[in-house]
Amino acid sequence: MDKIVIEGGRPLHGEIAISGAKNAALPLIAATLLAPGWHTLHNVPDLRDTRTIMALLETFGVEWQRDGSRLRINSANLNNCEASYDLVKTMRASVLVLGPLVARTGQARVSLPGGCAIGARPIDFHLQALKNLGVTIILEHGYVGAEIAGRLKGGTVYFDIPSVTATENILMAATLAEGTTVIKNAAREPEIGNLIDMLVAMGARIEGKGSDRLVIHGVEQLEPAEIEVIADRIEAGTYLIAVGAAGGEVTITNCNPGHLPALLEKLRAAGLTITEERTAIRVRRSGPLRSVDIKTMPYPGFATDLQAQIMALMTLTRGLSVITETIFENRFMHVAELRRMGADIRIDGHSAIVTGTGRLTGAPVMATDLRASASLVVAALAAEGATDISRVYHLDRGYEDLVGKLSRLGAVIRRERE
Ligand code: UD1
Repeated sequence: MDKIVIEGGRPLHGEIAISGAKNAALPLIAATLLAPGWHTLHNVPDLRDTRTIMALLETFGVEWQRDGSRLRINSANLNNCEASYDLVKTMRASVLVLGPLVARTGQARVSLPGGCAIGARPIDFHLQALKNLGVTIILEHGYVGAEIAGRLKGGTVYFDIPSVTATENILMAATLAEGTTVIKNAAREPEIGNLIDMLVAMGARIEGKGSDRLVIHGVEQLEPAEIEVIADRIEAGTYLIAVGAAGGEVTITNCNPGHLPALLEKLRAAGLTITEERTAIRVRRSGPLRSVDIKTMPYPGFATDLQAQIMALMTLTRGLSVITETIFENRFMHVAELRRMGADIRIDGHSAIVTGTGRLTGAPVMATDLRASASLVVAALAAEGATDISRVYHLDRGYEDLVGKLSRLGAVIRRERE
């Protein structure tokens, strides 16, 4: 296994480009299952998760070719509709194939993902919504079996919580249903807008993009499409926070500032100078950091996927910050590791109370999930001395060329065999 070693305390300077969004690429790739023929996706990041979903699609008989960030996919010859435990256990988002498979073929079998480091993460919303569209769901031997004779039937779906992947799953399934489906309290993340653009390019009829009420008029069949994956707002946010922690002045390009409304305001309140351009953001830290309170919320609120990273930043202030996690019940696994680097953080229910100590010191640390690992990178860039971050495979799931990008900004960072 590899580890990342960071010698902290060097300000970051320069320019880096943001990659395509992992959480947009995964549903777009799953959507190719809805229509036979060659689809073309541009700006697809090369990550462990995008490789996992292609390995999964391969088990269904899908052909694909990658040329740089361009990915071509053809699902004309589907010969298997079972997503095995081996692949699903490594990536929960594998559940995204359930809706498209059952809509196209009338049957699917997908392993139940099980719990994960940040919480129980059930898929009951996905299953109930498919039932509302006429699908029979059978849970046995650790698998979800989904079946329907003929086409899905349009219906009404309401989510208690606006779930991102459940909204995506049902959007995809409903495109091929007979009649109209209404999704109420739908998630509004930009990645869902990207998926809607792809489905519409495939011939789907969808109203309500960007809102929490989506109306899908089912069509009999869809065509292959060409689409560009939007920029990864979480990767962008992580680098902005990293500059806050390490200091310096950096421009991140190929991104959409409009997709980071909550983070940019919080970073300004924390004392950073942020300049937004059409597809770039410039960030500069010139004075001391100020503490801010954070509460994670569904989009356009503050993203739970940036909570761990902003917590690392808050440990570097001289004030008190209350960080409340409302999306996942167990998303404070990074706290114990940040404490090992000198952070003063107390957990009280769903909140972390961070007393800024103004400094961190390097230490050997390890993380249990993707964004927790990213918070350790942020902390390590600011810390005095060296930090060894083990279990790099978490970072490989979601950050393309992390070491290369940070090196280009002047960080002293390398990957080593453990
Ligand atoms: C997606 C993102 C993930 C992000 C999360 C929240 C992808 C591939 N992953 O995950 O990076 O952290 O959104 O922004 O896009 N819930 C249920 N039952 C369900 C589904 C969800 O109770 O059937 C709950 C979850 O436990 C959680 C909340 O709903 O408390 C929101 O989760 P959800 O939006 O579904 O997260 P994911 O789509 O899995």
